[in-house]
Amino acid sequence: MNTLSVERKHLGVIGHPLGHTMSPLMHTTAITMAGIPYDYGVFDVVEEMVEPLLVSLRKRNFRGANVTVPYKKTVMPYLDTISDEAVAIGAVNTIVNDDGILTGYNTDILGVQYSLREYEDAIRGNDVAVFGAGGAARSVLFALSTFFAPRSITIINRTPSTGSALSKEFREKFPSVKFEWSGTVQNSIKSLDSAKLIINTTSVGMLPDGGSHPLPHGFVMKNTHIIFDIVYNPLKTALLQMAETIGARTISGLEMLVGQGDAAFKLFTGTSFPIDQIRTTVWSALDRNTHI
Ligand code: ATR
Repeated sequence: MNTLSVERKHLGVIGHPLGHTMSPLMHTTAITMAGIPYDYGVFDVVEEMVEPLLVSLRKRNFRGANVTVPYKKTVMPYLDTISDEAVAIGAVNTIVNDDGILTGYNTDILGVQYSLREYEDAIRGNDVAVFGAGGAARSVLFALSTFFAPRSITIINRTPSTGSALSKEFREKFPSVKFEWSGTVQNSIKSLDSAKLIINTTSVGMLPDGGSHPLPHGFVMKNTHIIFDIVYNPLKTALLQMAETIGARTISGLEMLVGQGDAAFKLFTGTSFPIDQIRTTVWSALDRNTHI
């Protein structure tokens, strides 16, 4: 193939601020390893610039963008089509440009599926407890209900109204799963006790607040629990450290990060991430940050 005649396509990430995003590192590593004619930019823009940016994204040589905080909802009115999953979650984290038509996707669901890939048997027919009721929690609930058939999912959240509304909404969406709202701390301890899998979708434990964890006082973790923390900075959160200390199985937020990135890269380029190399590259970058 004459590579000079191949048009270079542009990708990038839209958000603000973007100082800590891992997307450029992951995608440029994948582009270099695949040897494909793409480049990856950073669109750190204020909210008023989101709409004009999306207009320029329709140009032929732009292939797509990752979308991160705080614009996962903001971009939605400016897209032509939105996948059913992204509509259900109420957030778009990936935009693909097909000849001027912009489609929004949410690959966080596939990131959760990837993260839990080794635990299908453990989750099926069992109870799950989820901390948080925001956008990340919605992706987790959607992925669990769609791919893993748990018996029940209990939502534990700081703000009661958000937690109970989310459990009601998902009960209607997925009648085969028993969605509960934990209510009191006492009830949340009971739900955590009986859960096979416990997932933190809140930002509790994220740097610079690295020592904190979401577990209520009085709950005793067992080595039969499986603990998934979607926080990836630090790589080993206080929650994961506690779990490791007692011999429980753990899943790091790094899995979700590379899983959602892989799904986005496939949508952009039709090519998979070299996922093991990407994981190692991101791990090294985050490990360096943790020790600064
Ligand atoms: P994301 O899209 O990352 O999920 P979000 O939609 O802002 O972000 O949701 C953050 C979730 O983490 C919420 O459930 C929030 O609880 P509230 O509904 O009470 O706001 C939860 N959260 C964030 N910081 C928290 C903290 N310090 N303690 C407990 N929960 C927290």
